[in-house]
Amino acid sequence: MEQVAEQAGDITGEVFQHFFVQCRTSHALMDHMDKYMLGRMLDQVLLLLMEPGDAELESYLNFETKAHATYGVEQHMYETLMNSVRDVVRNDLNGDYDAEISAAFDERIEYLLQKIDTVAD
Ligand code: HEM
Repeated sequence: MEQVAEQAGDITGEVFQHFFVQCRTSHALMDHMDKYMLGRMLDQVLLLLMEPGDAELESYLNFETKAHATYGVEQHMYETLMNSVRDVVRNDLNGDYDAEISAAFDERIEYLLQKIDTVAD
C-alpha cells in the first residue's frame, strides 16, 4: 500500500470509478457522497485491508455493517468494493504486484468478507 501511495498517489477516484462501473446500484446509493465522504470511507476500507491482526475489527465491522444495511448496502457490494481496491492496486503497481502480494490481498479480502457475512447473519 505504501508503494501504491508512492507510485499512484491518491487512489480514491480510481477505486470508486472502477467500483461504480462494476455496480450501478452502489453508484446510485453513493450519489450524494462528496469526495471527502468517499475519501473517509476508503481510508477505513484501506485500514481494514492493511492492518495486521484484528484488534477491534469485529466490533467495527459489526457497527459499520449494521449502519450500512440501513443505507441499503447489500452483502455482494462489499466484495465488489474490495475487489475494486485490489484491481486498482494491481494495475497501479504493474509488475510489482507479485504472487505474494496477490495471495495476501485475496486472503485478507476473503477473511474480511467472512467476518462481514457473520455480522450480517
Ligand atoms: C468494509 C467496507 C466499508 C467500510 C469500512 C465503510 C465505511 C464507511 C464510512 C466510514 C462512512 C462514513 C463516511 C463519512 O465520514 O462521511 C461510509 C459511508 C457510506 N458508505 Fe461505506 N463503507 C464500506 C462499504 C460500503 C459499501 C460496499 C457500500 C455500497 C454502496 C457503502 C456505501 C456507503 C454509503 C451510501 C455511505 C453514506 C451514508 C450516509 O449518507 O451517511 N459502503 N462508509
